[in-house]
Amino acid sequence: MSAVRFLYDCDPGADDALAMLLALGRPDALDMIAVTCVAGNVGLDPVVTNARRILELAGRRDIPVYAGAAGPIMAPRGRVSIMHGSDGLAGSTLQPPTMPVADGHAANEISRIARAEGKLHICATGPLTNLALALLLDPELPAYVSAITIMGGAAFCPGNTTPLAEFNFAVDPHAAAIVFDSGIPITMLGLDVTRQAVVTEQMIRDAQAIGTPVAQEAAHLLVNYGSKDPCLHDPAAIAWMLAPEIFKTVHGHVAICTDSGPAAGQVVASVSERHLAGRSPNCTIVTIVDAEAFGRLFLDALKP
Ligand code: RIB
Ligand code: CA
Repeated sequence: MSAVRFLYDCDPGADDALAMLLALGRPDALDMIAVTCVAGNVGLDPVVTNARRILELAGRRDIPVYAGAAGPIMAPRGRVSIMHGSDGLAGSTLQPPTMPVADGHAANEISRIARAEGKLHICATGPLTNLALALLLDPELPAYVSAITIMGGAAFCPGNTTPLAEFNFAVDPHAAAIVFDSGIPITMLGLDVTRQAVVTEQMIRDAQAIGTPVAQEAAHLLVNYGSKDPCLHDPAAIAWMLAPEIFKTVHGHVAICTDSGPAAGQVVASVSERHLAGRSPNCTIVTIVDAEAFGRLFLDALKP
C-alpha cells in the first residue's frame, strides 16, 4: 500500500517535534507533503523556526514550511504553554535553520494543496486556527479533505489548561468549533488517550542507545519535555495514522464550547442515543491505547 500523503499543521513544541520525527521515520507509511505552522506552545516565529530545525535534522529540507496564524480567531491572545521551554523545544541544541520559509499563508496553502491533491489527509496537533481560516476562506474545502486527525480536546476527562479544556482547544475554541462543524471526518485524540501515551525510562534509554542525531534529539526532547509533561500527546496522533489497531474508539458528536467564560474550549461529547438526541456522530473519539505497542512503534521509527 502506498504511503499516505498528508499535511501536518502544528505548533512545535517538543511533542509536535517528536510527532514529526515519528512520521518522518516511517516514509513507508506516511508522506508528509507540507508543514503549516500556528502559534500555540510558543509564538509563531519560534514555531516556524522549530519546524524547520526538525525537518533539517531529519534531512527533509524538501518539505515546505508555511507560516500561519499568530493567534486565535477571536479568543484572547497570549496563552502559551509552559511545558516546552522558552525556545519551544525544551532547550534543544539544534542549530538555527537555513531552509527558507515557503511563500504563502498557511490557511491559503491548506486550501491550495488540498485542491491539488484532490483528497488530502490533514493531521493537526496545535490550535486549529489555520484549518478554521482555511474553511472560512474556502467553503468548498471539505470536498477536498479526506480526513482530519486531531490531537486536542478532553472528551471524558479534565482539561490540562483549564479544568474543562485542553490546551489546543482552549487557545482557540472558535477555530475548534468551526472545524468540528465542517462535516469533514474527524478522529480526535484528546487527553483521554494521550495521557496513556507516556514517556518511560526504558524509552529514553532505548532512544539514547540508537546513537543517531535524530535519536539523540528525540532522547533530549523525551528527557527535557518529559520532565514537565510525560504525555506524548502529538505523537499519539501520528501513531493513530500508522497503527489504528493499537487504539480503541467510540463514535460520538463533539461540540466545542465557545463561551468566553470558564468553559471556553470544553469538549461536549455525546455518545449515547439520548445525548445524541437525533444528531449524527461527527467524530471518532479515541479513548484507549496499548501503551507498550505505542512505545515500540515510536522507538522503531527512530531507528535508521
Ligand atoms: O494539550 C497538549 C497539546 O497542546 C499538544 O499538542 C501540545 O503540543 C500543545 O500544543
Ligand atoms: Ca502541539
